[in-house]
Amino acid sequence: MKLWGGRFTKEADKAMERFNSSISFDKRLYKYDINGSIAHAAMLAKCGIISREDAKSIIEGLKSILDDIESGKLKISEDAEDIHTFIEQQLTCRIGTAGQRLHTARSRNDQVALDIRMYLKDAISQIQQLLISLMETITDVAFIHIDTIMPGYTHLQRAQPVTLGHYLMAYFQMFKRDYERLGDCYKRVDIMPLGSGALATSTYPIDRHFVAEKLGFSSVSENSMDAVSDRDFEIEFLNCAALIGMHLSRFCEELVIWSSAEFNFIELDDAFCTGSSIMPQKKNPDVAELIRGKTGRLYGDLIRLFTVMKGLPLAYNKDMQEDKEAIFDAADTLTDSISIFSAMLSTATFHKDVMLKAAYGGFTNATDAADYLVKKGMPFRQAHEIIGRLVVYCIENGKDLSTISIEEYKQFSDLFDEDIKGAIDLKTCIQNRKVYGGPSRESVTVMIDNAKKFLEEH
Ligand code: ARG
Repeated sequence: MKLWGGRFTKEADKAMERFNSSISFDKRLYKYDINGSIAHAAMLAKCGIISREDAKSIIEGLKSILDDIESGKLKISEDAEDIHTFIEQQLTCRIGTAGQRLHTARSRNDQVALDIRMYLKDAISQIQQLLISLMETITDVAFIHIDTIMPGYTHLQRAQPVTLGHYLMAYFQMFKRDYERLGDCYKRVDIMPLGSGALATSTYPIDRHFVAEKLGFSSVSENSMDAVSDRDFEIEFLNCAALIGMHLSRFCEELVIWSSAEFNFIELDDAFCTGSSIMPQKKNPDVAELIRGKTGRLYGDLIRLFTVMKGLPLAYNKDMQEDKEAIFDAADTLTDSISIFSAMLSTATFHKDVMLKAAYGGFTNATDAADYLVKKGMPFRQAHEIIGRLVVYCIENGKDLSTISIEEYKQFSDLFDEDIKGAIDLKTCIQNRKVYGGPSRESVTVMIDNAKKFLEEH
């Protein structure tokens, strides 16, 4: 059974039918399709376009279909061309002629635009909630490790001492921006397209604002041709998804590196690792790697839809049916990745002693040693040069800035005094960086307080 048989005198080619069909993936829109139809039917009756009795039986019929799908009593048959066709046919089977009036003043083009917008509104809210719990986890772990000293890196070379709390709160900022980006995207998803018809609305006196209000949309689309052919709100969502994937991937990369024997900064919980079929000793960070790898999908989903849309003339084109798998895949991938990542992070053990030792190696306090000379009046460029030479001296003699004697210091500049030791103590290096945004306990406490305020408000 087709929704468009009248014009055709020949049977459809079987392979074409299979190729053309979208029900294998758009069936998951059933709930949105049904709720959209319920609102549409109510509007048709309110505007006197169909009778109250017809609307009543349509709405009851649709509700019974929804119940039966949810309870498992009704299986969505993949013989139908798409979910819209399936639901309409089911309805007509159940209630007869009244069901055939549902599609008055509507096209599948505005119907599908409505369904995907409803789906995405839910998906965005769900992903935002997951980001909130991830941010809670990060904030909790950061709070515990506000004094855990570790080396900060540039070029993956030890650079300056920071704390694990400071480090983790950097990721908090990324996920906060991701959360906000999704919220911004949501505003453009939250626009009601139904009533646009195939492309040019309809001649019926419909009330689009009534439908928008019934379905909880903030506004109604302004141009019918745009409304049925716009998918940039999906591309925005996929862009947000790709960025979240990128942030998770970077974080996972840290965990992979940190759990290597060479770094040994962390131990991931057994529950989030796997073993090797041949090497009995192996414990691999597969989950972190897999989340990192899933970013490939998210980028792929984004490029896929960008490419689908790039040459399409107005208005609806069948190419656009290719949008759904991309948004479903991105939403599913993120849902799993974010929640598994949170669990993995909250169960990881951090080796504070190893991190501290690593911070002591690699001359991470060299900048502070230079700043010491600057505070005694030396221009920074000269101080930089002297400490550079001091570092070479240490390397050649197997020492570091905290183990060489004051006499050795004095060979490089007589501005050095006993207080140099205190000035380059890692704790001092960190606690003296009280600048807003810095690693000191004071500054990270501000970050954590702000984070908590944000989490309470969202
Ligand atoms: N399955 C179609 C899609 O996902 C629904 C809209 C079909 N409209 C049409 N005129 N063929 O885009």
